[in-house]
Amino acid sequence: MDAFSITDGVLHAENVPLPRIAEAVGTPTYVYSTAHLKAQYQRLRRALGELDADVCYAVKANANLAILRLFAEQGAGFDIVSGGELQRVISAGGDPARVIFSGVGKSVAEIDFALKLGIRCFNVESASELDCLSERARVLKRQAPMSIRVNPDVDAGTHPYISTGLRSNKFGIPPGQAVELYRRAQADEYLSVHGIDCHIGSQIGSIDPLIDALRNLLELTDRLSAEGIRLEHVDVGGGLGIRYGDEEELDVEAYGAALCELLRGRELKLLLEPGRYLVGNGGVLLTRTRFLKPTTAETEKNFAVVDAAMNDLIRPALYQAWHEVRPVTPRAGAAELCWDVVGPVCETGDFLAERRELALQEGDLLAVMSAGAYGMVQSSNYNTRPRPAEVLVAGDRFRVVRRRETTRDQLALELEAEHAETWR
Ligand code: LLP
Repeated sequence: MDAFSITDGVLHAENVPLPRIAEAVGTPTYVYSTAHLKAQYQRLRRALGELDADVCYAVKANANLAILRLFAEQGAGFDIVSGGELQRVISAGGDPARVIFSGVGKSVAEIDFALKLGIRCFNVESASELDCLSERARVLKRQAPMSIRVNPDVDAGTHPYISTGLRSNKFGIPPGQAVELYRRAQADEYLSVHGIDCHIGSQIGSIDPLIDALRNLLELTDRLSAEGIRLEHVDVGGGLGIRYGDEEELDVEAYGAALCELLRGRELKLLLEPGRYLVGNGGVLLTRTRFLKPTTAETEKNFAVVDAAMNDLIRPALYQAWHEVRPVTPRAGAAELCWDVVGPVCETGDFLAERRELALQEGDLLAVMSAGAYGMVQSSNYNTRPRPAEVLVAGDRFRVVRRRETTRDQLALELEAEHAETWR
């Protein structure tokens, strides 16, 4: 489905014309489509067929409470990487018993919080973390459900910054060492061995590396089983790639079929941790053109300076990510020029898009497409810029799900310190 399309010459989010949102809420603003998020979730569920599978939405992709609530209502569990994300899941009405906790550097406070709430599983990423988890469970008189995140040494074929399943990456535990840790965990009265886990990277376009990784996990599962260590679940992580431009999106139906094939006859529950797949194409960053700086005799480029910047959407600057930029009200037949779409931040790396053929005038609204995943969550206050508002659309209605930040919001913590603190 295409949640963002042109009707009567204007780009809409579902049935809401984007200019309506820009006028009411201002720009830059993230706009999300309820219908798209639901459709992606349902499509993935369908692809998983009859598998005993739990889809745990990776909160880090888009952590807005309204979006978490929507996925909770759809029946999703959650994959978190911090105590803050756990707090968000609870605030959104999510069930802690459906939460799995990933990440290489969980703090004692985070572990305690998750233990007390009774989350479903800790994905352990090192021997030291295993010891720490056991110790905290002992102190709190609990048993910690755990799985080991195995690093299967599989090349996900994605951008190096978002590749996580190689031996050289900081994530997970090599298979050999994992066996040793499972033995230790099995013998530990404060730990309860539940599963095995991996996550090899993000924005993966082919199912092959994902399937290779699962094969490695299943081999390990069999080795453990031969030693009497029985696992309840296998967690294949996230990583399902979407379409930003002309790349292939991951074929989820083929992925689902391959998972079914590999898991047939095994009494293993399947967990998945998709983030981007569920939200990426469900959001746009709506921005307004401030100034046009066309080429002069001395310059080589045409710059369209818009009101969104790298602090709002860092993906182009950080990963050379390509996002389509669409005029909200395209001018049919107007002459196009080749523009770099840049923000007001004082860095040459502050661009949202480079070399785009667009017919632009100052004041035009633009939509930076496919910004639903790793957009707002990676925003910052660089240059003391307030972070954007977020809006959720459903049919012909919309509502603000996070108000635009103010400068006052940003100064508050420093002013408070100035009043309360003295030199120590
Ligand atoms: N599970 C774990 C343990 C993860 O580390 C991640 C993402 C996911 C699941 C979800 O992966 P997804 O299904 O969204 O690919 N900021 C980068 C992406 C970083 C991904 C980090 N981990 C970007 O903007 O492309």
